[in-house]
Amino acid sequence: MRENVFISESSSETRELGIVLGRNLVAGDVLALCGNLGTGKTVLTKGIAEGLGIKDTDHIVVSPSFTLINEYYGTLPLYHFDLYRLNGSSDLMELGIDEYIFGKGVTVIEWAERCIDILPPNTMKILLNVTGENQRKFTIEKASEQIIDKLKLNRKEQVV
Ligand SMILES: Nc1ncnc2c1ncn2[C@@H]1O[C@H](COP(=O)(O)OP(=O)(O)O)[C@@H](O)[C@H]1O
Ligand SMILES: [Mg+2]
Repeated sequence: MRENVFISESSSETRELGIVLGRNLVAGDVLALCGNLGTGKTVLTKGIAEGLGIKDTDHIVVSPSFTLINEYYGTLPLYHFDLYRLNGSSDLMELGIDEYIFGKGVTVIEWAERCIDILPPNTMKILLNVTGENQRKFTIEKASEQIIDKLKLNRKEQVV
């Protein structure tokens, strides 16, 4: 397991990062996205959805602010949580978050800092920061070496 930092210079680069991630996720993976409003969690999630083969992600993948969770179906199911309006992790237990996390799909959680204590130890954590008007910094913890290699390879291809 390695810690890695990726810099994105635009929404489309963030989306591309998400696509590469989405293509390399497997059933049972949990991604905790931690970062403030506007750091790019939803943009990244749209990319992940696209990488999982979900169609028309621009229109259908939106932050599930009122429902806390949306489900989409691609090569794997995507369970998309947004905990912005959450009042403590007991709400999540009531929602049956365990059924998703230990289910047959990929779980992506925006505002995951609000429930980090109840996530499995092998959860992939991505910390998002605004480092410029169009620049975002992604610090990835606990990704497999294979995923990090794929992300790095993609970044090199973009530079060429
Ligand atoms: N490099 C970048 N990556 C992602 N979003 C960016 C970037 N630069 C600017 N933005 C803008 O920042 C906003 C991110 O929004 P969003 O993904 O909804 O954030 P969050 O879900 O974290 O609140 C969008 O308006 C997007 O166009
Ligand atoms: Mg969002």
